[in-house]
Amino acid sequence: MPAQHAATPASLMIPRLPHLAYGGDYNPDQWPEEVWAEDARLMREAGVNLVTLGVFSWARLEPRPGGFDFAWMDRLLDLLHASGVMVDLATPTAAPPAWLARAHPESLPVTREGVRLGLGSREAFCPNSAAYREAAASVTRALAERYASHPALALWHVSNEYACHVPECYCETCALAFQGWLRRRYATLDALNEAWSTAFWSQHYSEWEEITPPRAAPAQLNPTQQLDYARCMSDSYLACFELEKALLRAESPDIPITTNFMNFYKPLDYWAWAAREDVISNDAYPDPAVAEVEITAAMAHDLMRGLARGEPWLLMEQTPSQVNWRPVNALKRPGQMRLWCYQALARGANGTLFFQWRASRAGSEKFHGGFVPHVGTERSRVWDEMRSLGAELATLDEIMAARTRAEVAILLDWESWWALELDSHPSSEIALMDRVQAFYAPLWRRNITVDFVPASATPDDLARYRVVLVPNLYLTRAATAQALSRYVERGGRLVMGYFSGIVNERDHIWMGGYPAPFRALLGLRVEEFAPIASGATIPLRAADGSSFTCDQWADVMDLEGAEPLATYAGEWYAGRTAVTRHTFMDGIAYYVGTRPDTAYLERLLRQVCDEAGVKPEIEAPAGLEVTRRMVGERSYLFALNHGPAAASLRLARPGRDLLTGERRTTTLDLAPLGVAIIAEDVAR
Ligand code: GAL
Repeated sequence: MPAQHAATPASLMIPRLPHLAYGGDYNPDQWPEEVWAEDARLMREAGVNLVTLGVFSWARLEPRPGGFDFAWMDRLLDLLHASGVMVDLATPTAAPPAWLARAHPESLPVTREGVRLGLGSREAFCPNSAAYREAAASVTRALAERYASHPALALWHVSNEYACHVPECYCETCALAFQGWLRRRYATLDALNEAWSTAFWSQHYSEWEEITPPRAAPAQLNPTQQLDYARCMSDSYLACFELEKALLRAESPDIPITTNFMNFYKPLDYWAWAAREDVISNDAYPDPAVAEVEITAAMAHDLMRGLARGEPWLLMEQTPSQVNWRPVNALKRPGQMRLWCYQALARGANGTLFFQWRASRAGSEKFHGGFVPHVGTERSRVWDEMRSLGAELATLDEIMAARTRAEVAILLDWESWWALELDSHPSSEIALMDRVQAFYAPLWRRNITVDFVPASATPDDLARYRVVLVPNLYLTRAATAQALSRYVERGGRLVMGYFSGIVNERDHIWMGGYPAPFRALLGLRVEEFAPIASGATIPLRAADGSSFTCDQWADVMDLEGAEPLATYAGEWYAGRTAVTRHTFMDGIAYYVGTRPDTAYLERLLRQVCDEAGVKPEIEAPAGLEVTRRMVGERSYLFALNHGPAAASLRLARPGRDLLTGERRTTTLDLAPLGVAIIAEDVAR
């Protein structure tokens, strides 16, 4: 018998669940009570150990203001407990009941154009509405008081996907909230007028009450007003989360609290949110119809690990089979669901839940997949796959204490994302995610694991990485510029993309030649921006004479100590430098002043990694994803075959495949969509 290494309680993401979490959203209130016993039986059969309960149950729990009906929920929690299923109990505040809107129409959200949104869906609330917050607090308090000490309770799930459908509200209440937020930020109107540069277009404010959200307007809106509104909205939703969290914490100090994220979701600054969560959880719905979607999926998993500061995180939702909300809802092929689960585990998750347990028979999600499909569990491929995955995951507790490690980091900042994608820039075609993915993909292809770090990372935080990538940092705070410079000074390698270091946190240009905060570090000055017309490319020549192309953007720059790595070979700036390398004290800073084609960026990143001594986890054929989770001397090699054909891998160390129990000494063969987890022999 192989030794089982139990995870220690201190390392557990969910202390009451010493296993990889497996289960899903459970919406029993959509079903007659007779079905519940069958649910419990099937959950046991499928190896389910955690369900998310009550996410959208507000109207059922509180059919009239203050009139609670908990009897059904009591029966459910007792039933689940008796069945050995733990509960991730949700506050139902993502779906306010109709009575709230009727009594408080002002609690409904308003669009930029002034349209008040109506009922009949979900998330119909303004995050700053006092009526909403009071009602949300009241139902949360009642739930917390009633269930804080229920033995089935393992995790609190606050609301659901904050800001998913209403990223911003523009109502009168939000206008007042914005004014208050601005007073706290700027203290005086003089400071606000200065920060917003209101000398422009007669935008000066003489009273706080004159200030409005950036509603639909005749022409371009003030950029700092827009940026501050994005900050204010992220904070407004965060205040809703904090309100509920405090109530839950007061009743159950030992139960961790989460709210589910949505990958790289622009409206919410997840770094700020993550700092306030006990467990980082995410909902992942990669489209099986999109080629290489596993790369963006991996990237989101890596972000979650970054948000969790390297600790385990939870894949809160994915579909067993298909979603219902795309124009065409491709089905996961046999084996794909399993493969994608292991991808999350490979990148640091300690469990995976699904949306949802039983496919709904009515409502707008009736064609969404579930563990239990409409056809039932007899002769159901989906059910069979879910059940066998549950059995398999139950044998893998030993990986829980191991962590995914990386030597390369990508710096990602929400404020800069917001500012970068505002209007009235030299090109409206620069999109942060395009840039991040362009830097991430070549590393993914080589099986070099990447962490995500925030712009607030200190030089010591960064010093853990051999290479730091900054695909774009349009908005740069002075402290970030200093931290990045210190990191390179002390021997780090940095690669920075174009249109970085352009403005400060007020979206004012850093004067002194672009990119002023990084000129010394990069050893150059960008004199002009030459955006390239949509669809056009220009030739790019590397120092060794090989040819590539670039598009979207061309910096026209002078070198001030940097050496050229590539030059433009077209346009009036032919012969000018496009890509540079600069030795800065003990480190090296690279700058990419254009959007090079994939081949060039791959080559550049390979050179940087080679110089920095960053090696792939293992040399593997294309389409094979490999990561390692490590704890002490033990390491687990995850190998995932995303490709359409069988593939084999030469192992660096022999070990035992946890999924088959077989020993692997030299090579590992993987069928299409195949997975292996090799517990590598400890080198003696
Ligand atoms: C998520 C949401 C779930 C469900 C699911 C369907 O975004 O949190 O409640 O709607 O999508 O894919």
